[in-house]
Amino acid sequence: MTSFEIPDSDLEGIKDQVVIITGASSGIGLATLRRVLKHGGKVFAADLNPLPSPESSSVPFCKVNVTSWKEQVELFKAAEKQYGKIDHVFANAGIAPTVSLLEDDVDEHGDLMPPNMRTMDVNLTGCLYTVKLGIHYLKKNPRGGSVVMTASVSSFTRFPATDYTVAKHAVLGLLRSLTPNLHPNLPIRINAIAPHWTQTGIVTADLTAVLGEGNYQSADVAARSALVLMADGERHGELVYSEAGRFRDLENGERGYHALAKRMVGKGQGEEVLEIEVLVRMAEMKAEMERKEGE
Ligand SMILES: NC(=O)c1ccc[n+]([C@@H]2O[C@H](COP(=O)([O-])OP(=O)(O)OC[C@H]3O[C@@H](n4cnc5c(N)ncnc54)[C@H](O)[C@@H]3O)[C@@H](O)[C@H]2O)c1
Repeated sequence: MTSFEIPDSDLEGIKDQVVIITGASSGIGLATLRRVLKHGGKVFAADLNPLPSPESSSVPFCKVNVTSWKEQVELFKAAEKQYGKIDHVFANAGIAPTVSLLEDDVDEHGDLMPPNMRTMDVNLTGCLYTVKLGIHYLKKNPRGGSVVMTASVSSFTRFPATDYTVAKHAVLGLLRSLTPNLHPNLPIRINAIAPHWTQTGIVTADLTAVLGEGNYQSADVAARSALVLMADGERHGELVYSEAGRFRDLENGERGYHALAKRMVGKGQGEEVLEIEVLVRMAEMKAEMERKEGE
């Protein structure tokens, strides 16, 4: 776990880089869009709602519901057509919690209804689709690039908003599972931001009034953490927590979760190699089975 500051000079690497941002019309996505432009980068924006002024007249935009694979495919095609390349993808679109699983909604027969999956669909499926497409397009970029996801403090705490917390834990799962699959095997880095309370369209002024002064941050703080993860080519597998303007990577280093988890289950470095060998063997067995089935 490493604390750090983010001076403007650390964001200069975004100059001339092309960034796709989902959820770009408000809050953390909009603040990131503005930061990218301020430091000389280019943005292709996506959201359900239009961009506000003045960006609405100058930034290429695609109306996208991130839960639709087809619409996200069109977004990436449009961005590539616009700029000829994609350097970074910010999977950020998200909504507030919908269900706690304690609801007892019943249908016309009195049978329990399935839970509303809206938050899972947007915050997890939508993010996974963006990441999948992002990796596909970044593979085509000879210089590679990076994916940044918006996780949350609820990715690793007992935040009592059930569906939201499940989805954000899964975003952390995406980060952890993709980290060893990407850089350095592919020139693609993946990182995530984990903002604490941040004043946005989800956490409105009404809510921040309840939290009280000093207990929340501006969207630009979270935006800075997203931008440094794109701009700094050394950062990979990080979960950057931001709280009231302070930044920490919670994943790496001696006191990070990765080392902590190893200590908790008593694992050494060698066992990671073994896990990869098991996965490779599993893939070989699957291929063998498929070959036999085809005979
Ligand atoms: N605000 C916080 O305190 C906080 C903390 C941690 C994580 N987050 C995460 O930050 C991300 C951005 O949220 P925010 O707080 O800036 O809120 P916000 O409401 O200001 O911004 C979210 C944007 O996503 C868009 N969006 C929602 N559903 C969409 C869909 N299906 N397809 C496309 N776009 C869609 C909205 O129109 C909006 O412009 C979310 O993933 C949220 O979970 C927020």
